[in-house]
Amino acid sequence: MKTGNNRKTVLITGVSKGIGKSLTKKMLADNYFVIGTSRQGNLKVFESENFYPVALDLTNLESIETAQKTILEKFPQMDILINNAGVGPDLGSQKPDRKSFAQTFEVNVSGTVFFTEPIIKLIPQNGKIINISSRMGSMDECETSDSIAYRMSKSALNMYTKILTNRLKGKIKVASVHPGWVKTTIRESNLVNGTLTPEESAARIFSFIKSDFESGMFWNAEKEGKILW
Ligand SMILES: NC(=O)c1ccc[n+]([C@@H]2O[C@H](COP(=O)([O-])OP(=O)(O)OC[C@H]3O[C@@H](n4cnc5c(N)ncnc54)[C@H](OP(=O)(O)O)[C@@H]3O)[C@@H](O)[C@H]2O)c1
Repeated sequence: MKTGNNRKTVLITGVSKGIGKSLTKKMLADNYFVIGTSRQGNLKVFESENFYPVALDLTNLESIETAQKTILEKFPQMDILINNAGVGPDLGSQKPDRKSFAQTFEVNVSGTVFFTEPIIKLIPQNGKIINISSRMGSMDECETSDSIAYRMSKSALNMYTKILTNRLKGKIKVASVHPGWVKTTIRESNLVNGTLTPEESAARIFSFIKSDFESGMFWNAEKEGKILW
């Protein structure tokens, strides 16, 4: 598929709502061609010829493979991959439960890893991979005992960031990004307690992505500084 001369292509997972939706709007406005995933697939929210919707359910291997096949067939190159899709069904709870543990790790860790792997070969020299993580996955900054699956999944995602950084050294820049405490429905109370709107968070994430950042870092987009791992 032709994405236009000099137009950069970005693949963003989880663009139906929240941070992914705002990031998509921001990058379309900045002249990017956006391939955006959601479980539903045929999103109508982005009225742009520079948006290509792809169906992807990160808990379903068949869905992951179909999405990869579509992307690999249609797009020769991907300048940036943003792994944004994520869930937090145990956010705020004090005890782990098997159902939310399985779902959280399938979406935030294994689905994300196995979706990413074949896509990496599409990313050229100086391309970027951004994993939308969370400060809640920082081992150094963890001072509470809640949200076990969510916290552990983001720590695991951060390790994937480190592993990709080592593997892709000198070719592709990789980073984990904490988007801030954002007013989205990932947790109902975020709509009240969150300190950033999705648009504000997306603007900060976007300015980090555009910067010449050091590969292998964990960036706090809200405070605009590094986070300890
Ligand atoms: N909001 C915050 O304060 C905050 C803080 C730190 C980190 N984060 C991280 O930021 C990212 C975006 O979160 P958000 O707050 O914008 O959440 P959100 O509004 O709930 O959006 C989550 C996105 O993930 C997609 N998704 C959910 N389940 C999926 C699955 N099984 N397969 C594929 N995609 C799936 C959803 O798409 P569909 O449901 O349409 O498929 C949706 O587009 C997440 O990784 C989250 O952990 C958020």
